[in-house]
Amino acid sequence: MKVLAVSGSPIENSNTDRAVKIAMEATGAKKQEFFKLSDYTISPCNACLGCVETNRCIIKDDGVMLAEKAYKADIIIIGGYTPYSTIDSRTKAFIERLYPLHHRHGLMAGKPGAAIITCAIPPGKEGMPPACESGLSAVQYYMMEEGMKFVGGVTISGNVPCVKCSSGIQCQVSGLKMIYGPDATVESVGINTLEDDTDTVSALKKLGEDLVKTYYGG
Ligand SMILES: Cc1cc2nc3c(=O)[nH]c(=O)nc-3n(C[C@H](O)[C@H](O)[C@H](O)COP(=O)(O)O)c2cc1C
Repeated sequence: MKVLAVSGSPIENSNTDRAVKIAMEATGAKKQEFFKLSDYTISPCNACLGCVETNRCIIKDDGVMLAEKAYKADIIIIGGYTPYSTIDSRTKAFIERLYPLHHRHGLMAGKPGAAIITCAIPPGKEGMPPACESGLSAVQYYMMEEGMKFVGGVTISGNVPCVKCSSGIQCQVSGLKMIYGPDATVESVGINTLEDDTDTVSALKKLGEDLVKTYYGG
């Protein structure tokens, strides 16, 4: 069994990267490959339909190699984060570049897949953009439209970038105030580290196990 796992987060050893690796390792698959998308060049799809006959993109960049990896994988785990409360552009470009696998043969159909989304706005937070939900949907809808088996998604509590900015809470458009209210401080919000959230780590491990069960028809 081969697992392909990708992270769209450009942050070094980010929560998203580590979350994706936890789920990937929980599959116990013999062949596991992790790609940090910011290490590669992946343009968005040109919608030229140059891939229809060949199932291969005509853009000469790393998107071709990654699509080949996706085709050969039995299980796909897609991790991303949510700048401006939607899926990040690297993860989106990666998904778009899997379009060559769509035509005539539905080459991704039936494969189990999962989404892992890091967001600063907590899921279901009233009056806030649905960042986590939007990120999850982007991956889920891709898998749905390709006839894949969407096994599930896990959301990770990410960090508001303003926590690390020198203006912190002073800024007129501080994300800390927007999410946590006028009394929020850099200290009160703090830094979220995935491994401290044991429930989420358990959910990620379960996701990996569920992907394998689905692969074997469970
Ligand atoms: C440019 C930028 C804009 C962001 N905007 C949002 C946002 O609108 N909503 C949200 O939930 N998170 C937003 N985030 C936070 C990310 O979703 C995510 O929590 C964080 O970048 C992941 O970092 P971590 O892996 O260190 O936790 C933004 C991050 C960046 C870099």
